[in-house]
Amino acid sequence: MSDPFSYLDSMRGAFINELKELIQIESISTLSAKAGEVRRAAELVAQHLRGAGMSTVQIFETPRHPVVYGEWLGAPGAPTILIYGHYDVQPVDDPEKKWLTDPFTPVEREGNLYGRGSSDDKGQIFANIKAAQALAQNGGLPLNIKFLVEGEEEIGSPNLDHFIESHQELLRADVAVISDTAVLSLETPSIIYALRGLTYLEIEVSGPEKDLHSGQWGGSVHNPLQALCEIIAALHNPDGSINVEGFYDKVRPISAEERAAIAKVPLTESEWKRQTGAPQPWGEPSYSLRERVSARPTLEVHGLIGGFSGEGAKTVLPAHAKAKVSCRLVNDQDPHEIEHLIRRQVEKLTPPTVRSKVTPINYGDPAVVPIDSAAIKAAVDAYQRGWGTEPVFMREGGSIPVVATFSRMFHIPVLLVGYGLSDDGAHGPNEKFNLECFYRGMRTMIALLQNLGKMTPAQVKG
Ligand code: BES
Ligand code: MN
Ligand code: MN
Repeated sequence: MSDPFSYLDSMRGAFINELKELIQIESISTLSAKAGEVRRAAELVAQHLRGAGMSTVQIFETPRHPVVYGEWLGAPGAPTILIYGHYDVQPVDDPEKKWLTDPFTPVEREGNLYGRGSSDDKGQIFANIKAAQALAQNGGLPLNIKFLVEGEEEIGSPNLDHFIESHQELLRADVAVISDTAVLSLETPSIIYALRGLTYLEIEVSGPEKDLHSGQWGGSVHNPLQALCEIIAALHNPDGSINVEGFYDKVRPISAEERAAIAKVPLTESEWKRQTGAPQPWGEPSYSLRERVSARPTLEVHGLIGGFSGEGAKTVLPAHAKAKVSCRLVNDQDPHEIEHLIRRQVEKLTPPTVRSKVTPINYGDPAVVPIDSAAIKAAVDAYQRGWGTEPVFMREGGSIPVVATFSRMFHIPVLLVGYGLSDDGAHGPNEKFNLECFYRGMRTMIALLQNLGKMTPAQVKG
C-alpha cells in the first residue's frame, strides 16, 4: 500500500487498541506515588515513536518526570517540524461517584473511547504519532520531524523550560505543532490563537494551636475556616471582577476588531447550559460568555480543606483551613507577579485574629500566536482536507505553558491544531475521545505534514 490515508483506514482498529494500552497506564503526574506509572507511559510513547520511523528516540531525565524525544531528519533541505504533546494525566478522584467505568480501563461506547487521558492528551499526541507512521510506511515522510512529549504538563511543566533551554540545538525547528485543545464541534474544527496563563496557589489560614471544643471556645476564637471563607469571598467584587489590587494593570483591553471576531463564534446561553448544567450564567456583565471563558482573567476556588467532614456531627473548632485557588491570566499578566499581588491582598485581608500563608503550586504563561503566517494557511488547508471542513480561529481558556516558551525561544509559528471536543470531560469524570475525532485528527496531521513538506524552511518559518 502506498497511500497514507488508505493505510489509516486499514489500521483503524489496531490503532484504537494501541491507544487503549497507553490509556491503561496511570500516569498521574501530580501524585508522587504514580511516578513509576508516569515512567511506564514515557517508555510506551518512546516505543511508538520508534514504530513511527523515528531514527533516534531518547528518554531524558528531569528532576521529576521524563521527557520523551524522537527525531527523523532524513529530508535534508526540507523544513523541520517540532510536535509537542504530553503523556501525563490529571487525577481521577471522584467525589460525586460519576465515573461509569474505571478511568484506566478504556472502553468504547457509542463511538467514543472512555478513559482518563483519552482526549487530554494521550489520544491527541497518539494521533500525531500514528499520522507520522502512516507517512513513514507509505512513501516516506516529506519533512524532518522532532517529537517532544513530556510528562509534567498537568503540573505546569516545571522542568520543561530548563530542558528546552539546555537542548536548543536538538529541538530547533521551523514550526511547532501542538494537538492538545478542542475543536469547536465535530462539524467545525478550530485553530487556537490564544491560551490563558495560570497561577495556582494554596492559601492556608491558622488560628488556635490545636482543634478546640466549639462549645467551650466558640464565640471567642475566630474560626480559621470561617476566616478563610471571608478572605476568599473578598477576592471577588459583586460584579464578578477580581478584587486584587493591581490585578488588571497588565490586562490589555480586547480590541473592537477582536471582539467582533470573537462574536462570530459565539457561546450561546443554551449551549453553555447544555455543557455546564448550571442554572444561570455568572460573571462580568460587560463581556460575552465566549469572552468570559477565553479572553478574560479569572480567580477560581478549587477546593477547601479543613475541619470535620466525616459522617454525623463533631463540634470542633478547627485549628487550620486551606484553600486551593488559581487565576487564569491573559496577556500581559505575569504568573509570578500575580502570585505576588494575591499574596499582598491576602495579607491585607487577613485579620489579626488569625494567621495566613500563601504557597505557590504552579505557573503557566499566557500566549497569543499570530494567525497570518504561511504555516497557519497550511494548517487551514490541512483541516479542510483531513477533517473535511474549514476551521475557525478561537481563543482557548485553558493553559499550555510551553506555547509561550516556544514563541519566546525559537521565534517560530506555533500551530494549535487540536482534535478534542469541548464536552470530552477533560480533567473530569467519564473523559472520552470521540473516535471520529481521532480518525479525522490523524488525517489532518497527515495533510499538515504533506503541506509543510512542500514548502521551504524559510516559508514555513515565515
Ligand atoms: N490540554 C489542556 C489545555 C486545554 C484546556 C486546552 C482546555 C483546551 C481546553 C492542558 O492539558 C491543561 O489542562 N493544562 C493545564 C495547565 C496548568 C496545569 C498549568 C490547565 O489548563 O489547567
Ligand atoms: Mn492537555
Ligand atoms: Mn489537561
